[in-house]
Amino acid sequence: MAKLHHVISADQFNPEISEKIFEEAERIRGADENSLKDILKNKSIVLLFWESSTRTFLSFYNAILKLGGFPIPILNAGKFSSAIKGESLKDTIRTCADLKADGIIMRHDKEGSAKVAAETLDIYAPKVCLLNAGDGKGEHPTQMLLDVYTLWRMKKEELKKGKLTGALVGDLRDSRVLHSDAKALLKYKTRLILISEKGNDLPPEITAEIKKEKIDYVRTDDIEKFAQEVDFWIFTRLQLERKGISLKNFRPQLQSKFSQKFGITKELLSKMKKDALLLHPLPRVEEIPEWVDEDKRAIYLSGKENSESQVANGLYLRMALLKIIF
Ligand code: NCD
Repeated sequence: MAKLHHVISADQFNPEISEKIFEEAERIRGADENSLKDILKNKSIVLLFWESSTRTFLSFYNAILKLGGFPIPILNAGKFSSAIKGESLKDTIRTCADLKADGIIMRHDKEGSAKVAAETLDIYAPKVCLLNAGDGKGEHPTQMLLDVYTLWRMKKEELKKGKLTGALVGDLRDSRVLHSDAKALLKYKTRLILISEKGNDLPPEITAEIKKEKIDYVRTDDIEKFAQEVDFWIFTRLQLERKGISLKNFRPQLQSKFSQKFGITKELLSKMKKDALLLHPLPRVEEIPEWVDEDKRAIYLSGKENSESQVANGLYLRMALLKIIF
């Protein structure tokens, strides 16, 4: 496997590279915690987050700690770094490097910012790596890795043989998670059911890639139509902030309308395959009501009947990724 340095886009991964990371994640999951403590010894990694985060931030932070490194959190970076005084992204990144950070994990509200940050490092501090923890409505490659890792754990043979049908549901245009997931799944030749409002489709360049690779796909706004054929579902919330609607002015009516069409109902659940998998990068708003958690097909969080947890997989996956990069 070529050396991984920056992680910017799902484009950098193929099944072979991803599976090396998944295998490492499995080893780490089963390892004695003490044996992991020196992997990031003396490494300082800045968590530079412009946008809010629960899972991505916590799992990276905890992954660094468990591997013996030092996480340096800069949360709400737009306010708590000098960005508020007018500092440019490039200068913030160069500052992290000059202060001897070994890596930067960055979440930013602008699409393309991860690439700009990585290019800045390439010029001024080529040893420092940049991990994209979400750039606006661009991509979220580490969420993609943990999503595919979860599928690999649960349906390995079918995934590898291109025998799965996956539904990507909700905000296909603006969900960075679904952008990265779609790019990865087409490399696995997964049949895709793309379910969204017309006009809220995947970006044209990703659809072009799906067509170029001759992936079997359908796009529909009818969530029930193909339910009996779907092996896994990835739901998303309505990405209001990407549509110019401030999250502070939360729009319950917009969200409810969205969830009625692109969320789970009793009816939909009854039509799904008995062994379907229900994934969601979280946060969920109303697309997946809490009562669904009792269903053993729900694996976004560990449940009473099911210990598989996409969230927990995120920790092991990110530990593996950090180990491989460093
Ligand atoms: C996602 C994100 O930030 O893009 N969350 C996450 O990282 N697990 C999904 C979202 O915000 O809808």
